[in-house]
Amino acid sequence: MESHNEEHAAKLLRAQSHIWNHVFSFINSMSLKCTVDLGIPDIIHNYGQPMPLSNLIASLPINSSKTHFIHRLMRIMIHSGFFSQHSDTHNDLEVKYALTDASLLLLKTHPMNVAPFLQSMLDPILTNPWNQLSNWFRNDDLTPFQTAHRKLFWEYAGSDPNMNNLFNDAMASDAKLVTSLVIEKCKGVFMRSETLVDVGGGTGTMGKAIAKSFPQLECIVFDLPHVVAGLQGGENLKYVAGDMFETIPPADAFLFKTVLHDWSDEECVNILKKCKEAMWKKGKEGKVIIIEMVMDNEKKDDESFETQLFFDMLMMVLVTGKERNEKEWFKLISSAGFNNYKITPVLGLKSLIEIYP
Ligand SMILES: C[S@@+](CC[C@H](N)C(=O)[O-])C[C@H]1O[C@@H](n2cnc3c(N)ncnc32)[C@H](O)[C@@H]1O
Repeated sequence: MESHNEEHAAKLLRAQSHIWNHVFSFINSMSLKCTVDLGIPDIIHNYGQPMPLSNLIASLPINSSKTHFIHRLMRIMIHSGFFSQHSDTHNDLEVKYALTDASLLLLKTHPMNVAPFLQSMLDPILTNPWNQLSNWFRNDDLTPFQTAHRKLFWEYAGSDPNMNNLFNDAMASDAKLVTSLVIEKCKGVFMRSETLVDVGGGTGTMGKAIAKSFPQLECIVFDLPHVVAGLQGGENLKYVAGDMFETIPPADAFLFKTVLHDWSDEECVNILKKCKEAMWKKGKEGKVIIIEMVMDNEKKDDESFETQLFFDMLMMVLVTGKERNEKEWFKLISSAGFNNYKITPVLGLKSLIEIYP
């Protein structure tokens, strides 16, 4: 009887701590944001070797009454894998901090710095809609973002230059890593085309890199006017402003990188049909290149499955989109009148999907 009670109590305690850890998950995000806001990864990097706590404190732009809190912030950041801790052989009391792979990717000087992505995703404009999620389930708004801000996401970006810049920088930072992988691993995909439109290409991180690596290709970065206004093209690159639901510039190849996951199936079918029209105008059999996640149907590895679930929820809260598994991609592609597709899963969580009429 006693052991039954003990088991029951242990079960309750485990359940309670499971709940606590989920209730407080935001503390991981917010501690990370604070660490980046204070410039801690850059400060440790500039020190050139594991940095003692006292030196870190002396280098931080903080009020002197707050210095003794820093080791607590660092402790949780070590726990979540952003720093490693080394002890000083001469001084047991002084800890030293070094960067990990994750904090290296947050350095201002890193060519693929992910900090702009973090700053945009954790900005209150993007996090407030999460407080509206249950209200949205009960109302008839299109997205929780609309419930929170009374505007749809892209409309809001068009009306708020700060949010627009923050988001475009986030997308540009996110695009850098994938861009270098695509150019390295999927060269063949771009070889035979003459013209390519990067539809919803943002400020052109990917378009510029493709234009540079494939000089035979005429590249167009196509996006909403508030995104591409004032941007200068180059020899084989130009920026065109427009709305992909109305018309897409003619070409024989169309790239959609993390664009279709922003939209519902119905909206995606409309976009892909516009793409087909643009392909016919060129009079050449072309192709569409999609760079997106292909969701796993079952949990293979905990961390990446959770990332896929996070992105899927993000698409539900901010926009009208979703992440799709292979079956859902297939359904979408065939509903838009494309007959063949090929998935190349070479980009970590993202895949390159080629589709043909
Ligand atoms: C998630 S971002 C991806 C940007 C870029 N492809 C990348 O991966 O970095 C989606 C892009 O679609 C653009 N977009 C949204 N609605 C659009 C429309 N109706 N016509 C053209 N572009 C649009 C947005 O402005 C934004 O730049």
